[in-house]
Amino acid sequence: MAKLTIDGSAIEVADGTSLFDACRLARGEALPHFCYHPDLSIAGVCRLCQVEVEGMPKLTIACNTTVRDGMVVHTRNEKVRKASQQILEMHLINHPVDCPICDQAGECGLQNQYMAYGLYDSQVAQGDKVHKAKVQVIGPEVILDKERCVLCSRCVRFCNEVTKTGELGIFNRGDRAEIGVAPGQSLDNAYSVNTVDICPVGALTSRDFRFQKRVWMLKSVDGVCAGCATGCNVRIDHEAGRIYRLKPRRNTQVNGSWMCDEGRHTYKAVHADDRLAEPLWRGQVVTWADAKVRLAEVAADGFALVVGSAHQSLEELCLLKQVAPGAVLSGGLAGSDMGIGDDLLRSADRTPNRRGLALAGFAEHGAGELAGLIRAAKGAILVHGGDPAVAPEVAAALAGRQDVVYVGTHRRATAQAAALVLPGATWAEKAGIFVNKQGRAQAFAQAVARPGQAREDWRVLAELLPAGATAPGSLKALREVARGQLALNLDLDRLPADGALTGGEA
Ligand code: SF4
Ligand code: SF4
Ligand code: FES
Repeated sequence: MAKLTIDGSAIEVADGTSLFDACRLARGEALPHFCYHPDLSIAGVCRLCQVEVEGMPKLTIACNTTVRDGMVVHTRNEKVRKASQQILEMHLINHPVDCPICDQAGECGLQNQYMAYGLYDSQVAQGDKVHKAKVQVIGPEVILDKERCVLCSRCVRFCNEVTKTGELGIFNRGDRAEIGVAPGQSLDNAYSVNTVDICPVGALTSRDFRFQKRVWMLKSVDGVCAGCATGCNVRIDHEAGRIYRLKPRRNTQVNGSWMCDEGRHTYKAVHADDRLAEPLWRGQVVTWADAKVRLAEVAADGFALVVGSAHQSLEELCLLKQVAPGAVLSGGLAGSDMGIGDDLLRSADRTPNRRGLALAGFAEHGAGELAGLIRAAKGAILVHGGDPAVAPEVAAALAGRQDVVYVGTHRRATAQAAALVLPGATWAEKAGIFVNKQGRAQAFAQAVARPGQAREDWRVLAELLPAGATAPGSLKALREVARGQLALNLDLDRLPADGALTGGEA
C-alpha cells in the first residue's frame, strides 16, 4: 500500500494505483481530463490532468503517473489552476466555439472545463482561427466536425484497442493536425457510436440523436438493454414519454463502458407504429371490461397450454406458471431470435432472458413440436410475449383455433392469430429482472409510460390467475415469490420495485 497526501488529506491506496485514480478518491471527483478513459490505454496527450507533486521540478500529468509512498500532491492550488487555464486556452485557440448549434452542448467536457477554469476572453480573433471540415459523414452512424476536435485520441484508441478495426487516425501536424478516416474508409463497425460517447466535445455526433433534443431537457433512467443475452447496462434518456437515446452505463462485470450500435436502436420498437395499445377481440378494439368478458368465454376452464418467452421478465415468468398450474408449459420457439454474435459484446441470442426462461422451468420447443402441442391442447392457449407464429407451422396450428389469448406488445404474427389480444408493456415501460447469459440477474426500471390502454404484464397475468389464487399485491411481492420459486440468490434489498441495480448471481 502507498500512503500519500492529496490536497492536505492523507490517503492510502494499493501500490500501482495511478495518481489520477488516487486523486479521484481523495477529491471525490475526477481531475479535469480529456484523454484519460478508464477502459482505454493511457495517452497523456491533453495535459489537463496536471498536478503539483512536491519535490518534482515541474507539474506532472496524473493519468500517466503511478503513486509512490510519501507523495505530497496538490490538485487545486494556484499553480495548477493557472496551468489548467493555459492548457484550456490552447485547446480553444482554433475551436469554433459554436456551442449554440452544437449537439454536445450541455454535456461537453470543453464547456464544463471552461466554466470551471476558463472564463477569459479569447486572444485569437474568429477570423484568424484555423478552419477545418465540418459535418463530415464518416460512417452510417457518426458525423465528424474536425474543428471541434481537441485531439484527445480517445476515438482512435477505441478503434485500435476495443474493436481493433483501426478506422480512425490523426493526420498532419501542428495546428493542421486533424482526426479523420483513411481515404476510402468509413467508421463502419458494430460499435461505432461508442466513439460519440467518449468524444469529450462535439466533434463526433450520433446521426440518430443529432438535433433531436437538447440534452438538458432529457431525464435518465437506468436500464438493461433487451437487444441480446449480454444485457448491457444502459441509461435510457427520455422526455415527455419518448425515448431519444440509449447510452452505455459502465459495468466492468458485463459491458465495461460500451454497447453495440444495434442495441442503441432497440428503443425504436417501443414507439413503433405496430405497438399494441388496446385490447383486441378478433381484430377489433375493445375495452378492458369487454376483454374480461371475452376472456371468461374463451378460457372458462382455464388454460391447457401456456407458452412463455425469453423476452419476458423473471417475475412475469414465475407468475405465468401460476396462471395455469396444470397446463402444459412451453418456452416458445427454440432457436428463435438469433442473430450474429461476436467476441466483444453481441450475443447471437437476441433475447434478454433465455437463462431466466430456463430457470423458471420453461423448455423451448422446435416449430413442429410446438405446433403439435398447440393442436393437442384440450383447452384454451395462453401465449405471453415473443412471436412464435413467425414459424409457419406454428402459425398454421394457431390459425385452426378460436381460443388463443396473447399478451404482447406488437401487432405481429401471433397477435394476428389470437382471438383475444391483451396489450402489455415493453422493457422500457415496466420494471423487472432479466438474467443475462452469464447468469447475472439484472434489474431494470420503467422509463416511459405505456401507450393507450397497455398494462404492466404482471398486472395482466394477475387477472388471469385461477379463482382462489392470491394475486401479488406489488412487483416487490412478486419478486419475493420468484426468489422463493427459483431459489435465486437475489439481493432484493438492492432491487427496489422500480430500481435498476445489478442483482446477484442467479
Ligand atoms: S474526435 Fe473527439 S474523441 Fe476523437 S480525438 Fe477528437 S476530441 Fe478526441
Ligand atoms: S451487445 Fe446486446 S445487450 Fe449489449 S447493447 Fe448490444 S444488443 Fe444490447
Ligand atoms: S487526462 Fe491526463 S493527459 Fe489527458
